[in-house]
Amino acid sequence: MYHMIYNKKSIPLQTRIKKIKFMLSKIIENALNEQIKIEAESSQVYLAMASWAETQGFEGVASFMYAHSDEERMHMLKLLKFVNERGGHGKISTLSAPPETFGSFKEMFQTLFDHEVMVSQKINDLVDATLKEKDYATHNFLQWYVSEQIEEEGLARNILDKINLIGDDKGGLYLFDNDVKLLTSTNTEI
Ligand code: FEO
Repeated sequence: MYHMIYNKKSIPLQTRIKKIKFMLSKIIENALNEQIKIEAESSQVYLAMASWAETQGFEGVASFMYAHSDEERMHMLKLLKFVNERGGHGKISTLSAPPETFGSFKEMFQTLFDHEVMVSQKINDLVDATLKEKDYATHNFLQWYVSEQIEEEGLARNILDKINLIGDDKGGLYLFDNDVKLLTSTNTEI
């Protein structure tokens, strides 16, 4: 439920009118903080993938992953600022360490796809919680994440389909690396 910040005695009327806003309930604040952690961990996972791909000599895949890692940090910051603007406290938590290596590109992109499916589920749970709490402002805010997850899952699925076709063929992987590089320069909404 919402709680209003509205202290009549200490704040002048004009400021009071501007400052009237609805605070987050503890349940939603905690749930958003959990999502902040998930987005920060996503950024770390993709950064680890970028670094590993770079050591394997695949510059296209590495730039795609570096860009994706930045996107996840932006997702995290957007949530953090929303929590603070709504009278809560966006928390910075300890993060789980991502894997250092990924076996093969196929395994790496499968991990990426599975990770995005997990994130979509978490966003859906969050949306569900806002409805239960009747927090329609946060519900509205989260619609951006719902759309973003549709795009991210779609893109991850496309890449996975391509890499499944290529298999371990070295020439195919070389062309794939160039294709992914192109994808990074033309698609800012990774
Ligand atoms: Fe922010 Fe890819 O989930």
